[in-house]
Amino acid sequence: MEKKISRKFCVAPMMGYTTPYARNLYRILSKKAFLFSEMIATKTLIHAKNTQSIIANNKQNPIALQVGGSEFKDLSKCSKIAYELNYDEINLNVGCPSKAVQKGSFGACLMKDKTLVKNCLEAMQINKNIEVSIKCRIGLGKEFNYDYFESFIDEIIKSGVKIIYVHARNAILTGVSPKDNRNIPPLNYEFIKKIKLKYPSITFILNGGIDSIEKALNLSKLYDGVMLGRLIQNNPFCLKDVDYLFYNESNKYKVSEKTVKEYFNFIKPQIGKDSIYRLLSPLLNIFFGIPNGKKFKIDVHSNMKDSNFDVLEKIFLNFIEEKKISIN
Ligand SMILES: Cc1cc2nc3c(=O)[nH]c(=O)nc-3n(C[C@H](O)[C@H](O)[C@H](O)COP(=O)(O)O)c2cc1C
Repeated sequence: MEKKISRKFCVAPMMGYTTPYARNLYRILSKKAFLFSEMIATKTLIHAKNTQSIIANNKQNPIALQVGGSEFKDLSKCSKIAYELNYDEINLNVGCPSKAVQKGSFGACLMKDKTLVKNCLEAMQINKNIEVSIKCRIGLGKEFNYDYFESFIDEIIKSGVKIIYVHARNAILTGVSPKDNRNIPPLNYEFIKKIKLKYPSITFILNGGIDSIEKALNLSKLYDGVMLGRLIQNNPFCLKDVDYLFYNESNKYKVSEKTVKEYFNFIKPQIGKDSIYRLLSPLLNIFFGIPNGKKFKIDVHSNMKDSNFDVLEKIFLNFIEEKKISIN
Protein backbone atom coordinates (compact mmCIF):
# COMPACT_ATOMS: atom_id res chain seq x y z
CA MET A 1 0.00 0.00 0.00
CA GLU A 2 1.35 3.43 -0.91
CA LYS A 3 2.29 5.60 2.06
CA LYS A 4 0.39 8.89 2.38
CA ILE A 5 2.87 11.48 3.52
CA SER A 6 2.36 15.22 3.65
CA ARG A 7 5.17 17.53 2.63
CA LYS A 8 3.22 20.68 3.40
CA PHE A 9 5.98 21.79 5.77
CA CYS A 10 9.52 20.51 5.25
CA VAL A 11 12.74 21.21 7.12
CA ALA A 12 15.50 21.68 4.53
CA PRO A 13 18.63 19.52 4.48
CA MET A 14 21.47 21.45 6.11
CA MET A 15 24.98 20.07 6.46
CA GLY A 16 26.26 20.41 9.99
CA TYR A 17 22.75 21.19 11.29
CA THR A 18 20.11 18.60 10.42
CA THR A 19 21.98 15.94 12.39
CA PRO A 20 20.15 12.97 13.93
CA TYR A 21 20.17 14.91 17.22
CA ALA A 22 18.64 18.04 15.72
CA ARG A 23 16.09 15.90 13.90
CA ASN A 24 15.17 14.32 17.17
CA LEU A 25 14.51 17.75 18.62
CA TYR A 26 12.46 18.69 15.54
CA ARG A 27 10.44 15.51 15.97
CA ILE A 28 9.76 16.25 19.64
CA LEU A 29 8.39 19.66 18.63
CA SER A 30 6.48 18.56 15.54
CA LYS A 31 5.16 15.08 14.79
CA LYS A 32 4.22 16.07 11.23
CA ALA A 33 6.94 18.21 9.66
CA PHE A 34 8.76 16.37 6.88
CA LEU A 35 12.45 16.10 7.78
CA PHE A 36 15.68 15.74 5.84
CA SER A 37 19.11 14.39 6.72
CA GLU A 38 22.23 16.37 5.92
CA MET A 39 23.56 15.64 2.44
CA ILE A 40 25.89 12.66 2.32
CA ALA A 41 28.06 11.78 -0.67
CA THR A 42 27.14 8.39 -2.15
CA LYS A 43 30.72 7.08 -1.82
CA THR A 44 30.80 8.06 1.87
CA LEU A 45 27.47 6.41 2.50
CA ILE A 46 28.60 3.20 0.83
CA HIS A 47 32.20 2.93 2.00
CA ALA A 48 32.70 4.91 5.22
CA LYS A 49 32.24 3.02 8.48
CA ASN A 50 31.33 5.94 10.65
CA THR A 51 28.20 7.35 9.05
CA GLN A 52 25.75 6.77 11.89
CA SER A 53 26.12 10.31 13.20
CA ILE A 54 24.71 11.53 9.87
CA ILE A 55 22.27 8.85 8.75
CA ALA A 56 20.86 7.26 11.90
CA ASN A 57 17.09 7.30 11.69
CA ASN A 58 15.59 6.70 15.07
CA LYS A 59 11.94 6.62 14.02
CA GLN A 60 12.19 10.21 12.78
CA ASN A 61 9.74 9.55 9.95
CA PRO A 62 8.48 11.08 7.77
CA ILE A 63 12.01 11.71 6.61
CA ALA A 64 14.22 11.80 3.51
CA LEU A 65 17.87 10.89 3.18
CA GLN A 66 19.67 13.30 0.88
CA VAL A 67 22.57 12.06 -1.22
CA GLY A 68 25.03 13.69 -3.57
CA GLY A 69 26.40 11.69 -6.46
CA SER A 70 25.97 10.89 -10.13
CA GLU A 71 27.06 7.26 -10.54
CA PHE A 72 24.08 5.03 -11.16
CA LYS A 73 25.31 1.95 -9.33
CA ASP A 74 26.22 3.96 -6.26
CA LEU A 75 22.87 5.75 -6.29
CA SER A 76 21.01 2.43 -6.46
CA LYS A 77 23.03 1.13 -3.52
CA CYS A 78 22.23 4.28 -1.56
CA SER A 79 18.51 3.81 -2.18
CA LYS A 80 18.81 0.31 -0.76
CA ILE A 81 20.61 1.64 2.32
CA ALA A 82 17.98 4.37 2.81
CA TYR A 83 15.22 1.79 2.48
CA GLU A 84 16.89 -0.50 5.02
CA LEU A 85 17.23 2.41 7.44
CA ASN A 86 13.50 2.98 7.13
CA TYR A 87 13.71 6.32 5.32
CA ASP A 88 10.54 7.26 3.44
CA GLU A 89 12.40 8.99 0.65
CA ILE A 90 15.80 9.36 -0.97
CA ASN A 91 16.57 12.76 -2.43
CA LEU A 92 19.18 13.71 -5.01
CA ASN A 93 21.02 16.97 -4.35
CA VAL A 94 21.12 19.05 -7.53
CA GLY A 95 21.40 22.39 -5.74
CA CYS A 96 24.70 22.58 -3.91
CA PRO A 97 27.12 24.95 -5.67
CA SER A 98 30.30 24.26 -3.61
CA LYS A 99 33.63 23.70 -5.38
CA ALA A 100 34.19 20.36 -3.63
CA VAL A 101 30.82 19.08 -4.76
CA GLN A 102 31.45 20.21 -8.35
CA LYS A 103 34.75 18.34 -8.28
CA GLY A 104 32.85 15.20 -7.33
CA SER A 105 30.43 15.83 -10.25
CA PHE A 106 27.34 16.32 -8.20
CA GLY A 107 25.18 19.08 -6.78
CA ALA A 108 23.98 22.06 -8.82
CA CYS A 109 26.41 21.51 -11.70
CA LEU A 110 24.28 18.49 -12.68
CA MET A 111 21.63 20.91 -13.94
CA LYS A 112 23.86 21.21 -17.04
CA ASP A 113 23.17 17.57 -17.89
CA LYS A 114 19.46 16.92 -17.54
CA THR A 115 19.62 13.49 -19.17
CA LEU A 116 22.23 12.35 -16.67
CA VAL A 117 19.97 13.59 -13.85
CA LYS A 118 17.02 11.71 -15.34
CA ASN A 119 19.12 8.54 -15.48
CA CYS A 120 20.33 9.07 -11.89
CA LEU A 121 16.73 9.36 -10.71
CA GLU A 122 15.80 6.21 -12.60
CA ALA A 123 18.68 4.32 -11.00
CA MET A 124 17.50 5.39 -7.56
CA GLN A 125 14.07 3.80 -8.00
CA ILE A 126 14.55 0.41 -6.41
CA ASN A 127 11.12 -0.35 -4.99
CA LYS A 128 7.73 1.21 -4.33
CA ASN A 129 8.35 1.66 -0.61
CA ILE A 130 10.95 4.34 -0.99
CA GLU A 131 10.07 7.54 -2.82
CA VAL A 132 12.69 9.17 -5.04
CA SER A 133 12.87 12.95 -5.19
CA ILE A 134 15.18 15.75 -6.27
CA LYS A 135 16.16 19.14 -4.85
CA CYS A 136 17.30 21.58 -7.50
CA ARG A 137 17.64 25.27 -8.30
CA ILE A 138 15.73 27.22 -10.96
CA GLY A 139 18.80 27.59 -13.16
CA LEU A 140 22.49 28.34 -13.40
CA GLY A 141 24.39 31.62 -13.76
CA LYS A 142 23.31 35.21 -13.34
CA GLU A 143 20.38 35.43 -15.75
CA PHE A 144 16.87 34.06 -15.29
CA ASN A 145 15.88 31.64 -18.02
CA TYR A 146 12.49 29.99 -17.59
CA ASP A 147 12.86 27.88 -20.73
CA TYR A 148 16.05 26.34 -19.32
CA PHE A 149 14.25 25.43 -16.08
CA GLU A 150 11.23 24.07 -17.93
CA SER A 151 13.29 21.89 -20.24
CA PHE A 152 15.22 20.55 -17.21
CA ILE A 153 11.94 19.58 -15.53
CA ASP A 154 10.51 18.20 -18.83
CA GLU A 155 13.45 15.80 -19.01
CA ILE A 156 13.82 14.71 -15.39
CA ILE A 157 10.17 13.85 -14.88
CA LYS A 158 10.53 11.22 -17.62
CA SER A 159 12.25 9.24 -14.83
CA GLY A 160 8.88 8.99 -13.10
CA VAL A 161 9.93 11.23 -10.19
CA LYS A 162 6.90 12.91 -8.62
CA ILE A 163 8.37 15.15 -5.92
CA ILE A 164 10.58 18.14 -6.71
CA TYR A 165 11.93 20.56 -4.12
CA VAL A 166 12.99 23.81 -5.74
CA HIS A 167 15.32 26.35 -4.16
CA ALA A 168 13.88 29.26 -6.12
CA ARG A 169 17.17 30.90 -7.09
CA ASN A 170 19.84 30.21 -9.68
CA ALA A 171 23.14 28.72 -8.55
CA ILE A 172 26.24 30.63 -9.57
CA LEU A 173 28.99 28.06 -9.95
CA THR A 174 32.04 30.33 -10.04
CA GLY A 175 33.18 33.21 -7.85
CA VAL A 176 30.32 33.01 -5.33
CA SER A 177 30.56 31.02 -2.07
CA PRO A 178 27.86 28.50 -1.08
CA LYS A 179 26.73 30.92 1.64
CA ASP A 180 26.40 33.81 -0.82
CA ASN A 181 24.64 31.45 -3.23
CA ARG A 182 21.81 31.41 -0.70
CA ASN A 183 21.47 35.20 -0.76
CA ILE A 184 22.88 36.84 -3.88
CA PRO A 185 20.98 35.16 -6.73
CA PRO A 186 17.51 36.71 -6.56
CA LEU A 187 14.48 34.63 -5.64
CA ASN A 188 11.90 33.89 -8.29
CA TYR A 189 8.84 32.02 -7.05
CA GLU A 190 7.02 32.61 -10.34
CA PHE A 191 9.00 29.80 -12.00
CA ILE A 192 7.48 27.30 -9.60
CA LYS A 193 4.00 28.70 -10.07
CA LYS A 194 4.38 28.42 -13.84
CA ILE A 195 5.84 24.90 -13.92
CA LYS A 196 3.08 23.68 -11.61
CA LEU A 197 0.50 24.83 -14.19
CA LYS A 198 2.23 22.64 -16.76
CA TYR A 199 2.55 19.62 -14.44
CA PRO A 200 -0.33 19.72 -11.95
CA SER A 201 0.21 16.12 -10.86
CA ILE A 202 3.82 16.69 -9.79
CA THR A 203 4.43 17.92 -6.24
CA PHE A 204 6.59 21.05 -6.30
CA ILE A 205 7.83 22.21 -2.89
CA LEU A 206 8.89 25.84 -2.63
CA ASN A 207 12.19 26.66 -0.91
CA GLY A 208 14.23 29.82 -0.43
CA GLY A 209 13.93 32.96 1.65
CA ILE A 210 10.92 31.93 3.75
CA ASP A 211 11.91 33.67 6.94
CA SER A 212 8.83 33.48 9.15
CA ILE A 213 6.20 30.89 10.02
CA GLU A 214 3.46 33.33 8.96
CA LYS A 215 5.04 33.67 5.50
CA ALA A 216 5.39 29.89 5.32
CA LEU A 217 1.73 29.44 6.18
CA ASN A 218 0.58 31.88 3.49
CA LEU A 219 2.84 30.32 0.85
CA SER A 220 1.75 26.80 1.80
CA LYS A 221 -1.72 27.77 0.61
CA LEU A 222 -0.39 28.79 -2.82
CA TYR A 223 2.11 25.95 -3.38
CA ASP A 224 2.12 22.20 -2.74
CA GLY A 225 4.33 22.73 0.27
CA VAL A 226 7.12 24.82 1.71
CA MET A 227 10.65 23.98 2.79
CA LEU A 228 12.47 26.09 5.38
CA GLY A 229 16.18 26.07 6.12
CA ARG A 230 17.73 28.99 7.94
CA LEU A 231 14.69 29.90 10.00
CA ILE A 232 14.84 26.42 11.56
CA GLN A 233 18.63 26.58 11.80
CA ASN A 234 18.37 29.77 13.87
CA ASN A 235 15.25 28.93 15.81
CA PRO A 236 14.17 25.27 15.74
CA PHE A 237 11.65 26.00 18.48
CA CYS A 238 9.32 27.65 15.99
CA LEU A 239 8.51 24.06 14.95
CA LYS A 240 6.31 23.82 18.02
CA ASP A 241 3.50 25.62 16.13
CA VAL A 242 3.73 23.65 12.89
CA ASP A 243 1.33 20.78 13.65
CA TYR A 244 -1.30 23.23 14.86
CA LEU A 245 -0.94 25.73 12.01
CA PHE A 246 -0.19 23.48 9.04
CA TYR A 247 -1.81 20.18 9.96
CA ASN A 248 -4.88 21.33 11.92
CA GLU A 249 -3.89 19.59 15.12
CA SER A 250 -6.15 20.84 17.87
CA ASN A 251 -3.45 21.66 20.43
CA LYS A 252 -0.29 23.74 20.20
CA TYR A 253 2.83 22.02 21.49
CA LYS A 254 4.08 23.61 24.70
CA VAL A 255 7.80 23.58 25.45
CA SER A 256 8.27 22.19 28.96
CA GLU A 257 10.66 20.26 31.20
CA LYS A 258 9.49 17.16 29.30
CA THR A 259 10.97 18.58 26.08
CA VAL A 260 14.41 18.87 27.68
CA LYS A 261 14.19 15.47 29.36
CA GLU A 262 13.13 13.74 26.14
CA TYR A 263 16.00 15.39 24.30
CA PHE A 264 18.60 14.42 26.89
CA ASN A 265 17.30 10.84 27.00
CA PHE A 266 17.96 10.68 23.28
CA ILE A 267 21.50 12.07 23.36
CA LYS A 268 22.75 10.37 26.54
CA PRO A 269 23.54 7.02 24.84
CA GLN A 270 25.63 8.99 22.30
CA ILE A 271 27.89 10.63 24.88
CA GLY A 272 31.50 9.90 23.98
CA LYS A 273 30.51 8.71 20.48
CA ASP A 274 30.00 12.18 19.01
CA SER A 275 31.22 15.67 19.91
CA ILE A 276 29.48 17.43 22.76
CA TYR A 277 28.84 20.35 20.44
CA ARG A 278 26.95 18.23 17.90
CA LEU A 279 25.00 16.61 20.71
CA LEU A 280 23.97 19.84 22.41
CA SER A 281 23.92 22.53 19.74
CA PRO A 282 20.30 21.97 18.59
CA LEU A 283 19.08 22.78 22.08
CA LEU A 284 21.22 25.92 22.44
CA ASN A 285 18.79 27.80 20.22
CA ILE A 286 16.21 27.60 22.97
CA PHE A 287 17.80 30.80 24.31
CA PHE A 288 17.12 32.62 21.04
CA GLY A 289 15.30 35.90 21.62
CA ILE A 290 14.45 35.17 25.28
CA PRO A 291 15.16 38.04 27.71
CA ASN A 292 18.29 37.22 29.77
CA GLY A 293 18.68 33.95 27.86
CA LYS A 294 22.30 34.84 27.27
CA LYS A 295 23.14 34.23 30.92
CA PHE A 296 22.00 30.60 30.59
CA LYS A 297 23.81 30.20 27.30
CA ILE A 298 27.10 31.31 28.87
CA ASP A 299 26.52 28.90 31.74
CA VAL A 300 25.95 26.03 29.29
CA HIS A 301 29.08 26.89 27.32
CA SER A 302 31.25 27.05 30.41
CA ASN A 303 30.00 23.60 31.50
CA MET A 304 30.37 22.02 28.09
CA LYS A 305 34.11 21.46 28.45
CA ASP A 306 33.55 19.21 31.49
CA SER A 307 30.95 17.20 29.58
CA ASN A 308 28.86 16.92 32.70
CA PHE A 309 25.52 16.17 31.11
CA ASP A 310 23.62 16.08 34.39
CA VAL A 311 24.70 19.63 35.20
CA LEU A 312 23.92 20.73 31.66
CA GLU A 313 20.47 19.16 31.76
CA LYS A 314 19.79 20.96 35.02
CA ILE A 315 20.69 24.34 33.50
CA PHE A 316 18.21 23.78 30.68
CA LEU A 317 15.54 22.63 33.14
CA ASN A 318 16.06 25.72 35.29
CA PHE A 319 15.81 27.88 32.21
CA ILE A 320 12.50 26.29 31.25
CA GLU A 321 11.14 26.70 34.73
CA GLU A 322 12.06 30.38 34.75
CA LYS A 323 11.16 31.26 31.15
CA LYS A 324 8.31 28.93 30.26
CA ILE A 325 5.96 31.80 29.57
CA SER A 326 8.31 33.71 27.24
CA ILE A 327 9.19 30.53 25.31
CA ASN A 328 5.59 29.55 24.67
C1 LIG B 1 24.18 25.61 6.95
C2 LIG B 1 23.48 25.16 5.70
C3 LIG B 1 23.75 23.93 5.16
C4 LIG B 1 23.08 23.49 4.01
N1 LIG B 1 23.29 22.22 3.54
C5 LIG B 1 22.53 21.74 2.52
C6 LIG B 1 22.58 20.37 2.13
O1 LIG B 1 23.27 19.54 2.72
N2 LIG B 1 21.81 19.99 1.06
C7 LIG B 1 20.98 20.87 0.40
O2 LIG B 1 20.30 20.48 -0.55
N3 LIG B 1 20.93 22.15 0.76
C8 LIG B 1 21.64 22.59 1.81
N4 LIG B 1 21.49 23.89 2.23
C9 LIG B 1 20.51 24.76 1.54
C10 LIG B 1 19.14 24.65 2.21
O3 LIG B 1 18.63 23.33 2.13
C11 LIG B 1 18.15 25.61 1.54
O4 LIG B 1 17.98 25.24 0.21
C12 LIG B 1 18.62 27.06 1.59
O5 LIG B 1 19.13 27.40 2.85
C13 LIG B 1 17.48 28.01 1.21
O6 LIG B 1 16.42 27.91 2.14
P1 LIG B 1 16.20 29.02 3.31
O7 LIG B 1 16.17 30.34 2.62
O8 LIG B 1 14.91 28.63 3.94
O9 LIG B 1 17.37 28.91 4.24
C14 LIG B 1 22.15 24.34 3.37
C15 LIG B 1 21.87 25.59 3.94
C16 LIG B 1 22.51 26.00 5.09
C17 LIG B 1 22.16 27.33 5.70
